Amino acid sequence: MTTPPSTLQPIRRPIRELPDELISQIAAGEVVERPASVVRELVDNALDAGATQITLRLQAGGVRLIGVEDNGSGILRSELPNALKRHATSKIASLSDLESVGTMGFRGEALAAICSIAEVSLLTRVDTPDEPHGWLLDGRSGELQPTARAPGTTVEVRELFFATPARRKFLKTDATELAHCIEAVRRHALARPDVGFAIWHDGKLVAQWRAVAGGGMDALRQRLADVLGDDFVQQAVALNWPLDAPDDAGAQRLRVWGFAGVPDAARSRADWQFAYVNGRYVRDKTITHAARSAYEDVLHGHRQPVYALFVSLDPARVDVNVHPTKIEVRFRDGREVHQGVRHAVEAALAVPRSGTTPEPVDTVPAPAWTPPARQDGFAFRPREPEIGHRVSDVAALWGYGSGEASILRQAQDERVAARTDFVSTDHLDSVRAEPVEAPTHPQPLPTGDWPLGRAIAQLQGVYILAENTQGLVVVDMHAAHERIVYERLKQQLDDQQVASQPLLIPATFSATPDEVATAEDCTEVLKTLGLEVTALSPKTLAVRAVPTTLAQGDPVELARSVLAELGLHDASTVVQRARNELLATMACHGAVRANRRLTLDEMNALLRQMEVTERSDQCNHGRPTWRQVGMKELDALFLRGR
Ligand SMILES: Nc1ncnc2c1ncn2[C@@H]1O[C@H](COP(=O)(O)OP(=O)(O)OP(=O)(O)O)[C@@H](O)[C@H]1O
Ligand SMILES: [Mg+2]
Repeated sequence: MTTPPSTLQPIRRPIRELPDELISQIAAGEVVERPASVVRELVDNALDAGATQITLRLQAGGVRLIGVEDNGSGILRSELPNALKRHATSKIASLSDLESVGTMGFRGEALAAICSIAEVSLLTRVDTPDEPHGWLLDGRSGELQPTARAPGTTVEVRELFFATPARRKFLKTDATELAHCIEAVRRHALARPDVGFAIWHDGKLVAQWRAVAGGGMDALRQRLADVLGDDFVQQAVALNWPLDAPDDAGAQRLRVWGFAGVPDAARSRADWQFAYVNGRYVRDKTITHAARSAYEDVLHGHRQPVYALFVSLDPARVDVNVHPTKIEVRFRDGREVHQGVRHAVEAALAVPRSGTTPEPVDTVPAPAWTPPARQDGFAFRPREPEIGHRVSDVAALWGYGSGEASILRQAQDERVAARTDFVSTDHLDSVRAEPVEAPTHPQPLPTGDWPLGRAIAQLQGVYILAENTQGLVVVDMHAAHERIVYERLKQQLDDQQVASQPLLIPATFSATPDEVATAEDCTEVLKTLGLEVTALSPKTLAVRAVPTTLAQGDPVELARSVLAELGLHDASTVVQRARNELLATMACHGAVRANRRLTLDEMNALLRQMEVTERSDQCNHGRPTWRQVGMKELDALFLRGR
């Protein structure tokens, strides 16, 4: 029997040093996967050289040509040959430099690697009087020629992978490669609003992002709008952590800033998740996980959040030398970064957006037409908008304690104080059902300071319709109320115990042996949750107290579902581990049901509560609780203004 040729019988070969060219080609294998990798390296270099304008010229998806032109520092003639050598860099000189590296590059390998797999030429000029012209270096021959050029550098890479045809076969269509190249530039562009970028492909300008003056959040917002579109910015909230960090804080302590998309803006793919560490685009599990967990309570299912977030910290606290393409980093204290990112995103998402609508407020034009006086002597009197409601009624209705009512009252007072220009605070304490004296001039609707507007009707027992300065607001009343109740319960539990209210007449029900056992085992947990459930007999349970917030709900249903939930968990740790699930179950029972008729006061109360409740834009299942239908959309529906 013949043995097949196999690796089992190694052929002994002498150990030799590899030729430089082959070493570079091996290195290139790690660094250059496709044209976009070259783009990334060349743009890195241009940014490190302090460029403020970077122009890319690509042909055939970058396979035939990648040219990157910058207006950076240029390279001295004497140093030019070194630029293409392996392990030659101007960016670090010692281990301590490496440990605190602040530039994109530091390995001194990129140009050498690219040279080994493509034809490279380098045209450069430094801005000094001793060098009146530029120099053109041919990467293959090493030949150097004087050439005219403004200060800066242009690197041209032609026929990528010409020497490694096997690699070339892995490339996709030109269009796909081009898309990857643009993506590579986009990642840089988001981190550097101060730098202008232009991308040409086969003679056509395919993307251009102008340098944004100024800095900080405003510049970033502009750049995000330019690169990802206005929608991204309009559907995103700004983050800044710690809260007191100024825009231009140095990187000495951990800082997280940027923009995070609202849950509604989430996508089916995780393709709009841009994370940066000290200005470098990274793919990092700690950051991704932290950001995802910040969305836990508002984004359910498999939707992927969108964000551009920037972590800056002392460079000595992060190792950037763990991956050849530097796309991964290692933090000295991953927990610190996790917490920072999570807090930053969570805090930004918690703020109800109804109060911070980013879109410009379309002012509703004052009606040009005033109805004529009626013949029978009655004048048409526009009804005074009911912006107020009795807080005490509202509190009773929704089961809020007096403390909560006063929070609501305070929030109202603040908003009202902010608009004393057109309504007096008298309206707060009474509901004016009677028409009042008609104003001589049409008055602007006093809805401008109620972000969710003034309730005008209830639709099919499901939706609340309200009017605000932008147009119509539609609220899913059950979903919205459920979130309010849920957040209230969370808050109370964070403060040790859910406020409880004894029932005048205990509600008894026939229970299963499991339910009775759970009720007896979990007395303490139930108490923490604001419930008191005791066994009257081996088959009967009595609910004696319920959370104040849920006093309006059905106590038996509530007790049953909480007992069912508790039965699934280990009683001793349930409040830590399943806290949110438990409270969500409870909230569902306490929230106002569909088909319940609400008065305008009740509806208004709900709207005001939404405005001051964290995360109230999403229900407990991650769906939106309200939508704005702007005047423009309404006008479009009726072909108005065409
Ligand atoms: N566009 C440029 N403008 C000015 N100098 C440049 C430019 N591109 C490259 N250089 C010089 O050439 C050197 C080598 O570049 P190369 O990209 O190979 O290595 P690096 O950037 O130092 O490290 P890395 O391999 O991590 O990218 C750089 O250190 C820099 O001094
Ligand atoms: Mg480099």
